Amino acid sequence: MLKPLTLISTFTLLFFLFSSHVTAKQPRFYRTISPTFLGLRKEKLTHLHFYFHDTASGPNPTAIVVAQAQITKNSSTLFGAVAVMDDPLTVGPEPGSKIVGKAQGIWAAASHDEIGLVMVVNLEFCEGKYNGSTLSLFGRNAVLNSVREMPIVGGSGVFRFAHGYGEAKTHWFNITSGDAVVEYNVYVFHY
Ligand SMILES: *[C@@H]1O[C@H](CO)[C@@H](O)[C@H](O)[C@H]1NC(C)=O
Ligand SMILES: *[C@@H]1O[C@H](CO)[C@@H](O)[C@H](O)[C@H]1NC(C)=O
Ligand SMILES: *[C@@H]1O[C@H](CO)[C@@H](O)[C@H](O)[C@H]1NC(C)=O
Repeated sequence: MLKPLTLISTFTLLFFLFSSHVTAKQPRFYRTISPTFLGLRKEKLTHLHFYFHDTASGPNPTAIVVAQAQITKNSSTLFGAVAVMDDPLTVGPEPGSKIVGKAQGIWAAASHDEIGLVMVVNLEFCEGKYNGSTLSLFGRNAVLNSVREMPIVGGSGVFRFAHGYGEAKTHWFNITSGDAVVEYNVYVFHY
């Protein structure tokens, strides 16, 4: 009869042989880790307040319509239009106010009944500890409503694992030129 110690060693040997055999055949592409492995401790809530400057007119527009359908011209809601933006984000509403980031993305007019935009926008910050970090905003922007709420679906840099929402409120709008300044209050949970 085998001694208990010999039995244990035999089992250990068999286990390693078996597991290395499995590993060699089918490498694993996932594992469970602790949040501390990524240096994640306590989730924080951050409030960001800035103004979004959308300039559609003049020689240096920051938002340009890049595509539209035949029927867009006849649509009072711009249905079918798609624009690309690289809009400065500033601390105050005035045009010369300090820039804290850029809103880079696209909008598409996706509603027949009102001006309802699909917004797909990266908010890239360039100030202090937020320099180089981004928040990804994806949501519905019914621009004529006084306040529009849009989800923040993720982020990078200091905003890794970000989730939250932004509230957009038109501060100033020139109906002739299409230029606008929009106040944003963004609330995000992140680590
Ligand atoms: C747009 O409206 C004009 C004037 O009402 C009309 O002549 C034209 O056919 C319409 N175009 C489309 C694509 O619906
Ligand atoms: C932000 O980062 C860039 C690239 O690392 C650097 O050139 C720039 O000076 C930084 N800006 C601020 C305000 O820290
Ligand atoms: C609105 O835009 C038009 C056309 O670009 C311009 O002539 C006008 O001065 C602007 N109004 C204001 C209040 O800025």
